[in-house]
Amino acid sequence: MGETVSFDVADGIALITLDNPPVNALGAAMRQGLERAMRAATAHPAAQAVVIIGAGRGFSAGADIAEFGQPAQAPALPDLCNLIEACPKPVIAAIHGVALGGGYELALAAHYRVAHVAARIGLPEVTLGIIPGAGGTQRTPRLAGPVVALELMTKGLPLPARRAADLGLLDHLVGSAEGEGDSAGQGEADALRAGAIAYAKDLLAKGRGPRPTRQITGRMGDVLAYETAVERFRERARGNPSPAPGKIADCVEAALLLPPDAAMSFERTAFEDCLASPASAGLRHAFMAERRAAKFPGLAGITPRPVQTIGIAGGGMMGAGIAVACLDAGFKVTVSEVNALEMGHAEDRIVAIYGRALSRGKLDEAALTGRLSRLTMCDSLSPLVDSDLVIEAISEDMTAKSDLFAILGEAVRPGAILATNTSYLDVNALARQSGRLADVIGLHFFSPAHRQRLLEVVVADHSAPEVVASAVALARKLGKIPIRSGVSDGFIANRVLSAYRTAADHLLEEGATPYQIDAAMRDFGFAMGPYQVLDMVGLDISWARRKRLEASRDPAERYVAIGDLMCRAGRLGQKAGRGYYRYTRSAPRGVEDPALLALIESYRAEHGITARHVTGDEISRRCLLAMIAEGARLLDEGVAQRPSDIDVAMLHGFGFPRWRGGPMKQADLQGLLQVHNALVKLTPEAPFLWQPSPILKELIKNGERFDTLNG
Ligand code: CAA
Repeated sequence: MGETVSFDVADGIALITLDNPPVNALGAAMRQGLERAMRAATAHPAAQAVVIIGAGRGFSAGADIAEFGQPAQAPALPDLCNLIEACPKPVIAAIHGVALGGGYELALAAHYRVAHVAARIGLPEVTLGIIPGAGGTQRTPRLAGPVVALELMTKGLPLPARRAADLGLLDHLVGSAEGEGDSAGQGEADALRAGAIAYAKDLLAKGRGPRPTRQITGRMGDVLAYETAVERFRERARGNPSPAPGKIADCVEAALLLPPDAAMSFERTAFEDCLASPASAGLRHAFMAERRAAKFPGLAGITPRPVQTIGIAGGGMMGAGIAVACLDAGFKVTVSEVNALEMGHAEDRIVAIYGRALSRGKLDEAALTGRLSRLTMCDSLSPLVDSDLVIEAISEDMTAKSDLFAILGEAVRPGAILATNTSYLDVNALARQSGRLADVIGLHFFSPAHRQRLLEVVVADHSAPEVVASAVALARKLGKIPIRSGVSDGFIANRVLSAYRTAADHLLEEGATPYQIDAAMRDFGFAMGPYQVLDMVGLDISWARRKRLEASRDPAERYVAIGDLMCRAGRLGQKAGRGYYRYTRSAPRGVEDPALLALIESYRAEHGITARHVTGDEISRRCLLAMIAEGARLLDEGVAQRPSDIDVAMLHGFGFPRWRGGPMKQADLQGLLQVHNALVKLTPEAPFLWQPSPILKELIKNGERFDTLNG
């Protein structure tokens, strides 16, 4: 029947199996195979009912996202769904694993929905900036009413089978509660197949025939309540940079107001509009970029070193967060501190993180006991020496880290991996200190390490491939997104961040206020502006880095010393009660501070700078350009392996607005020639910041985009 769909008739039931690993995405070959199978089942004289089931991990993860933007190939998914719905024999969708997006829309078009209790269903299209485009906006309210449908589609969160069944989105569950929530296994698929076939036979025995979802109107009777729900969700969608939530409300309303076929075409047009929106381009890019990031070159066929026990040197905020991340993932963890007092503080930090998880209901006492039973605290390095992996998480001081690596290199068992959590420092130098070049790698966690998903894997010049493979495997177990970085001061995320802040500082010096800059970047889509973030993390951290780099800084480089002045004046941010903002008990989030503006004014006067008018548009444009220029340099230098990794670093490391896709995606959307020309114009002001790097020129010359380099 086509390689991705198989068809079989036994005992009066036609069984259609979707088989397109890894997730049964509904690409063209699969749609064609399914269409042929549906026609064959309809025509087959012995088939009285049809069961559609997925092979492998689940039913289907929906439309093939990689196909978006490619020339359309028949049959379109909406037409396929209509074909299923119009089948003169009862069609049963049998769901295990996940039925998401177009996958669940297929199930909605079937006449009955049977699921394994461990399955999940959902319509997550909104997270990709699109809407269900194969009848989902029309059929869901018919089964579950407008409120459930709007919640499901505007939040995009999957529902467990039991909840979905309670809401009318599934008809029948099979399987036991045992293993519920586990990943779909063969036992689950077998139980489901048997259960779905039995359900089909039962329907036939009871004389129940096809039940087209479009004809179900029971939940649409209360017109006033229906319209009120739609209006509530439409209101909620206002101001969203993505058109999808608003269009979902429009489509759900169309389900009430228009005849089914007209409403389906209305949905199709809305789907196409969303697909063409810049927000969808950004969100789809983010989805693919996150999955691509974990693919490191040169690791095919490399077996990672086994990691079961993890030692963490240093139990400060980072060390404690890393310990929690590792405990949560099931590892045995030993945390070492320099003495009993510090060890106690480290333990308190770990317990405090878990205390917050307990109070929020994210963890129960039994799970906490299990995690803490795998934790050992110690006041010396000795207990770490038998670990499979030791992660150094002490303060950001090269001398201290070098000394520690020399000790670890001697003491830790041969074959173990030695990792540093440094944010900036030279991993090659630390590897040399250890005397074990091949065993050393950087694992740069972001704070709070137990929650932030980004993990920069810093591959040093001599890191062994199996050590790199172990880091990628570790990231997967921790539920983190690994991106590969070469050795460089600040790696990927902090280098791009630094360029962003430098561009902001230049504008500050020239005439903008920090409040204007923060507001412009919030308007751009960041949750916080750069100076709000600096106040939150403490100005002394970036000051320490500036002091460290002072000796190597080109004296001709434009340098804005406002941050240094502030640090010297004790304006270290929130912790000092004043930074770029002033913090009081009545204004814990900070208020504008005239004293800071006066400090900036006097700085300008001292340097002979006359403040100029700066617009919000100029602020966001320049900050973005600086990020793009630095990203291009990272590619040129080979520090980043692909542009989309830089996007992932900024999306997850520093809250770059997801719907914009990341700075490199923005460059592609704006056009590289335009970006290049803008950089050339700015270059005389500060060549180190704005000079376009050769890779940009090369791409333009070849008519290519950054995306070409994503491979
Ligand atoms: N299309 C194409 N590829 C997909 C895909 C999809 N819909 N969903 C997942 N994949 C791919 C991933 O890119 C990944 O590929 P690689 O192995 O090459 O990296 C692979 O499947 C496995 O995915 P994950 O790494 O994410 O695996 P997971 O087990 O962590 O999660 C999942 C599995 C829950 C299905 C998750 O992948 C997911 O949420 N997928 C997206 C689901 C979705 O948004 N569907 C809606 C699509 S749009 C639609 O259907 C519109 C319409 O109405 C026409």
